[in-house]
Amino acid sequence: MTISFEGKIAIVTGAGNGLGKSHALALAKRGAKVVVNDLGGARDGSGQSSAASEEVVNEIVAAGGDAFSHGANVADFEQVQDMVKQTMEKWGRVDILINNAGILRDKSFAKMSLDDFKLVMDVHLMGSVNCTKAVWDIMREQNYGRIVMTTSSSGMYGNFGQSNYGAAKMAVLGLMNTLVLEGAKNDIRINALAPTAGTRMTEDLMPENIAEMLAPEYVTPGLLTLCDDEAPNRTILSAGAGGYATASIFETDGIFLTPDQQTPEAIRANWSDATKQDKQQALASGVKQSEKFLAKAMAAMKGA
Ligand code: NAI
Repeated sequence: MTISFEGKIAIVTGAGNGLGKSHALALAKRGAKVVVNDLGGARDGSGQSSAASEEVVNEIVAAGGDAFSHGANVADFEQVQDMVKQTMEKWGRVDILINNAGILRDKSFAKMSLDDFKLVMDVHLMGSVNCTKAVWDIMREQNYGRIVMTTSSSGMYGNFGQSNYGAAKMAVLGLMNTLVLEGAKNDIRINALAPTAGTRMTEDLMPENIAEMLAPEYVTPGLLTLCDDEAPNRTILSAGAGGYATASIFETDGIFLTPDQQTPEAIRANWSDATKQDKQQALASGVKQSEKFLAKAMAAMKGA
């Protein structure tokens, strides 16, 4: 079945360039009315301009769609609230939020200032928190919402020089995991996209022909599957160059040690069993971990 966003209202942050622009154009092409948010600063977050987001709006309108731009800095809750207020005044609801805005301040941890660490956390993590908080009650009242976080392989797997960025990108997955539980009864689904794309964020990391293979337009079809009516929930979708895969955090089944066996030496001696991946599972909530260990302890007590 064709995926349609007819009648849906979407906010895409950081939609003046790169991936956000591609997402906004694709959502509008399939019928969504789109708020094109962008602060319009440089890659490191300095400066401000509305030129890029206005251009995206013009492109959407020229193709027969409906959009407006808003220059809210996602790290500023008041500005975000104003954007959501304007959206509600114009269109009366918010169905989809794509938390995409982002900056880089790369340096090895030894050389990184705490200001650069905090700024990156502010834009990626608090930006996602602010935008989600501003639409949360609206989505709860509507009994409908689709939210996409933008994570990164840097967060999930690490990347030299990106301790700030990696921490923030992993943090949005933590945010997603709890919001999934809290939003379920109101049909609010939250997923995450882990893109790899040739944009200004990655332009000095790759030659031009590779950047072309990694065009943002090869990521956006994946994004669309994360925010329509039939969207999954709590999925991390990695996407780039035509490849699509999912990522999960698994925990091994583990071992059980009786109180008298619980020494660091015994744990080390049983390391290969504790880390054996054959029965590993992606746990549905934090409580499941306690349940797993308690079940092992109780089974051992019964057997004793
Ligand atoms: P980009 O630099 O082309 O676009 C990011 C946009 O966000 C820019 O237009 C910028 O003005 C806007 N922005 C920055 N700070 C903002 C703020 N405080 N408020 C509102 N807008 C703001 O970068 P790209 O590559 O399109 O990145 C989009 C998202 O994808 C980011 O979250 C990035 O971390 C993530 N990502 C990108 C990857 C890649 O390979 N390009 C890899 C993994 C994740």
